[in-house]
Amino acid sequence: MNQDTILAALAPFKLGAMLDGVHVADGLVQVTLAIKREDAAALEPLRREIEAKLAGLPGVKNATAIFTAHKAPPPGILPEVRAVIAVASGKGGVGKSTVAVNLAVALAQSGLKVGLMDADIYGPSLPRMLGLSRKPEVRDGKMIPLEAWGLRCMSIGFLVSEDTAMIWRGPMVMGAINQLLSQVEWGALDVLVIDMPPGTGDTQLTLAQKANLAGAVIVSTPQDIALIDARRGIKMFEQVKVPVLGIVENMSYFACPHCGERSDIFGHGGAAAEAARTGAPFLGEVPLLLAIRETGDAGTPITAAAPASEAALAFQAIAVKIIDMLAAPAARRPEIVFD
Ligand SMILES: Nc1ncnc2c1ncn2[C@@H]1O[C@H](COP(=O)(O)OP(=O)(O)O)[C@@H](O)[C@H]1O
Ligand SMILES: [Mg+2]
Repeated sequence: MNQDTILAALAPFKLGAMLDGVHVADGLVQVTLAIKREDAAALEPLRREIEAKLAGLPGVKNATAIFTAHKAPPPGILPEVRAVIAVASGKGGVGKSTVAVNLAVALAQSGLKVGLMDADIYGPSLPRMLGLSRKPEVRDGKMIPLEAWGLRCMSIGFLVSEDTAMIWRGPMVMGAINQLLSQVEWGALDVLVIDMPPGTGDTQLTLAQKANLAGAVIVSTPQDIALIDARRGIKMFEQVKVPVLGIVENMSYFACPHCGERSDIFGHGGAAAEAARTGAPFLGEVPLLLAIRETGDAGTPITAAAPASEAALAFQAIAVKIIDMLAAPAARRPEIVFD
């Protein structure tokens, strides 16, 4: 008996989102069905059928199916934001901020209302990458995000100098993250993209707990050493029950702007292989291009500066995959636990 045999046995019942969880221990299977209280009587025959079906599986000693009243999810800290996604990696310099900015622009180009929040308190990149240096206005005690490239943007770098942020300590960092979530007038958004700091520390945990993340996009370069860090990042999000939407391979290959020849400077395909190994979807590859670095430094993301370029197309393809994933009703998968 394994996860697949249980799911296969349950498939004919077409439970969908009603299937809340499955717990298996020593041949005892317990299925939890989330229903509305008033439907309990009508669904009782279904509940018994499920028990009988599971009890008949080889290796199952006893099976119970129980109802729980369907609870509406708590409104959370960002009730008007439909999905919050974190762009993360185990280490710095792999292109998280570059991917976060260009992915956000590509999502906005697809017609979504998009916000972009810089959670890298120690090393905020968004002021430079977006070409923004104004201070945000405060209205009714809330900061108004700055507009750039069709995005609503907020970074600690709009508020304090980089040197000030560098000397903050842990609790201050968590306070700053809380403020960026709750004291900013984000308004109604389809997606809030969060540019994460490197690693698996306090910021990641605070956001996973407070921001109700719909998923994480893990950025890695192709070489093994970066993939080890990517794996650590995937593990951390799994532990805090944030689904990993997939892996992006950044600096995937170098396309020479002079002769067009392609060189795999850091190797190539490592992230796709890692995705296959961990079961995380592979979202796509972004080439290593001088234009990506130059546009990033100049505050005009390449997706905005050259929307038909090879690099912009790569980001747009990743955006399309993410939009599909966020739309899929299966975003909340049942939890299946084997003890
Ligand atoms: N695909 C790419 N091609 C060229 N330069 C890139 C690419 N991705 C990132 N860079 C450059 O690498 C540096 C680090 O990228 P950044 O996005 O700041 O990484 P992180 O946020 O992971 O620390 C930046 O100067 C950026 O412009
Ligand atoms: Mg960064």
